[in-house]
Amino acid sequence: EEAQGIRVSLLRWYDENHRVLPWRTASRSDHRKSNDEARAYAVWVSEVMLQQTRVPTVVTYYNRWMAKWPTLHHLAAASQEGAKSIVQEGEFPRTAAALRGVKGIGDYTAGAIASISFNEVVPVVDGNVVRVISRLKAITANPKEAATVKSFWKLAGQLVDPSRPGDFNQAIMELGATLCSTTNPACSTCPISDQCRAFLLSRNSETVRVTDY
Ligand code: ADE
Repeated sequence: EEAQGIRVSLLRWYDENHRVLPWRTASRSDHRKSNDEARAYAVWVSEVMLQQTRVPTVVTYYNRWMAKWPTLHHLAAASQEGAKSIVQEGEFPRTAAALRGVKGIGDYTAGAIASISFNEVVPVVDGNVVRVISRLKAITANPKEAATVKSFWKLAGQLVDPSRPGDFNQAIMELGATLCSTTNPACSTCPISDQCRAFLLSRNSETVRVTDY
């Protein structure tokens, strides 16, 4: 199956090349609560930051944030509403559907926390994911239109690896942030170039370019 080939190649690349980042190794920092909560909190904080700026900058802000509010309970005490409501409920929501009900958590953050922290098989779609999938499937739809983004949630949902959804989601975002860049993609070292329609089309044409997608 086509999707399975993409999953295997992408995850192998991610296993060998992923960046070691503080939120990827977060664990219990508060003996009263579970590792699950510490990890979900770490992913939440990092993903909100990652929506606004690039990984190297986020590392600095993330470490500063964690020094100030090391657990969800510290943050709740500092009166962030979403954190307060989770602490009041007593348990970190574990599904994307439940997470979307928390103030300040939208579709992207819900998918990121559910897949990365709780292994729910749900996709994430950000600008990087839209670009990677556009190229994989040679889709030229305008990514600025809401209908396009909606259709990419469906495509990403079909692609996400059912056994490692969190790693798969991080891998596709990381590919988009590194090799599969907007203007200067590194197709010659890309782990999924042989499954990429834009790459194959551009290889067989003098006028088509990967950057058309
Ligand atoms: N971009 C946003 N979130 C990311 C993550 N968890 N890993 C890699 N790139 C990302």
